[in-house]
Amino acid sequence: MVEEHTVMTGTRTYLPDPSIRDQATMQEIETRHREFRDDPGAFWDRVAGELEWSRPYAKVREWNHPHARWFIDGRTNITRNCLDRHVNNGRRNKVALIWKGEDDEERVFTYRQLAREVCRLANGLKSLGVGKGDRVCIYMPVVPEQVISMLACARIGAIHTVVFGGFGAGALNHRIVSAGAKVVITADMTLRRGKRIPLKSVVEEAVVEAPSVEHVIVLRRDLEQPVEIHAEIEVDYYGLIGGMARDCTAEEMDSADPLFILFTSGTTGAPKGIVHSCGGYMVGAYYTTKNVLDLKENDVYWCTADPGWITGHTYVVYGPLLAGGTVFLTEATPDFPDPGGWWRMVQEFGVTILYTAPTAIRMFMRFGDDWPNRCDLSSLRVLASVGEPLNPEAFEWFYRLIGKEKLPVVDTWWQTETGMHMITTLVGEPMKPGFAGKPIPGVVADVVDKAGNSVPPGTAGALVIREPWPSMMCGVYQNEERYRQYWSTIGTCYTAGDMAVKDKDGYFMIIGRSDDLIIVAGHNIGTAEVESALTSHKAVAEAAVIGKPDPVKANIIKAFVILRQGNVPGEKLKNEILHQVRMNLGPVAMPSEIEFVDSLPKTRSGKIMRRLLKAKEMGIDPGDISTLED
Ligand code: WTA
Repeated sequence: MVEEHTVMTGTRTYLPDPSIRDQATMQEIETRHREFRDDPGAFWDRVAGELEWSRPYAKVREWNHPHARWFIDGRTNITRNCLDRHVNNGRRNKVALIWKGEDDEERVFTYRQLAREVCRLANGLKSLGVGKGDRVCIYMPVVPEQVISMLACARIGAIHTVVFGGFGAGALNHRIVSAGAKVVITADMTLRRGKRIPLKSVVEEAVVEAPSVEHVIVLRRDLEQPVEIHAEIEVDYYGLIGGMARDCTAEEMDSADPLFILFTSGTTGAPKGIVHSCGGYMVGAYYTTKNVLDLKENDVYWCTADPGWITGHTYVVYGPLLAGGTVFLTEATPDFPDPGGWWRMVQEFGVTILYTAPTAIRMFMRFGDDWPNRCDLSSLRVLASVGEPLNPEAFEWFYRLIGKEKLPVVDTWWQTETGMHMITTLVGEPMKPGFAGKPIPGVVADVVDKAGNSVPPGTAGALVIREPWPSMMCGVYQNEERYRQYWSTIGTCYTAGDMAVKDKDGYFMIIGRSDDLIIVAGHNIGTAEVESALTSHKAVAEAAVIGKPDPVKANIIKAFVILRQGNVPGEKLKNEILHQVRMNLGPVAMPSEIEFVDSLPKTRSGKIMRRLLKAKEMGIDPGDISTLED
């Protein structure tokens, strides 16, 4: 493994300021671990007991490998716990959501106001015939209505499937069709670096061959030049909710009912629809937001992820609202209009918890210390990171420049499939740059060999989870076999698909993906999806893509392309092919480099050996090539 030589570096240990450690929600961590080990059911029962259930669960857990049922026969609705519980218990006028647009527009919602908007849209959806179990696709910019749409679906028991606004028509169509969405909620446009990027036109294209779609709800942000609404299928967002009642009884959901489907890039072929349940997911999101991110009553909490990714689902929307927090949300890009925007927002809004990604941190490092140093960042209390390994250099910068050598940096390892944090340093625990940390109380993770045996400290292996946890995915949408694979690749463990190494203190260093997933600026891109977008161009015969290390984005996508006969390689064709990928998958999945080649390395069984392409690209030893075709 290429990364082996870097393993176990960064052994210097850091501690946050004792005052922050002493006030952390999770105290006596060893005791919590022991409580879990002694009685996992009682452990999770205590957490779930802090939330409201309209019918109490009969049992905490039933484990029938590979399927777990959590909070059996319990009934609730996650929005009751995100909204009503606060409205009725002293947080009615507390700010739930502060949104700042790229153009300085600001919108603030108290819990009462947020509940009202959610109910109006929930009633609007009902008026369009949407009910429990129906799928609704949300393809929106980062605006309050994106969050409201998710909650409105949950309110009535509809299953949302949010598609990140950076995806193109092909990717969107695929997700709409796979989920069988009845309604799509979108907006006229998203604002990015001062430019208007149309969204509705993407949806128009994406729904052409999506027979399940009955309605498209369009949020019109630009009231001066409103986009046209095609009355046959489209409905204006504000027109729809205009006459709707402000109350909407929350649908009673069984713990096991699906809450949402979120598509994540797969290694082969189509993206997988990861399904999360109403009860278990809720408990996991709540537990970790409170105990890992340490969200408290007076915090101003900012997770910089787009709600369209799992980090946004769990830690912009559900987790912090379950915990009754004040969520800050912005459409603004980190480096627009200049690299000081984020730090000015921290100062202006008094952000106390900042949860972001290594790719953003590395980008800021490049712009120098001056931008954050110009701002008063003293409101900050907790720093957190997710999405890819936080390399020691980025850790140091974050800790020193933003945390002023006082704040905890919690590096949270988890996945779309896990729904919640699994491995991290907790507030107050010693931090080791380069290491995410240890499994949190309630999680049993390990590093193992192919047979599932623990490997000794310092040896790389596969990262697995040995026991079920509440917010584990409850399935892969309409693909039981794929779900089973997760739990049957290595013994009976859940296989995360990441390689890791543990040190003698039990800290996990995440080395990278063991499959064909490329993490580009924190976004998971499946090689298969990009390759199929490339080959959809008429001049392309075959294509293979790899992740090439990049100092800021962690990886960029490099494509190797074989042209069909009669096509001449050149800049013009390159741009055409890139355009094709952009239209198909969107800007997130665009290769940064294309190289035209005559052949691709393949196994005898015809599988492209991307590992070899990568080794060649990076000038390193390709390792075992015995399966290589001549
Ligand atoms: C990677 C995002 C190292 C990992 C929440 C994982 C990380 C994949 C970390 C899941 C971290 C996430 N350190 N690697 N702290 N967090 N990853 O599904 O490869 O978008 O398997 O979920 O991101 O990405 P996903």
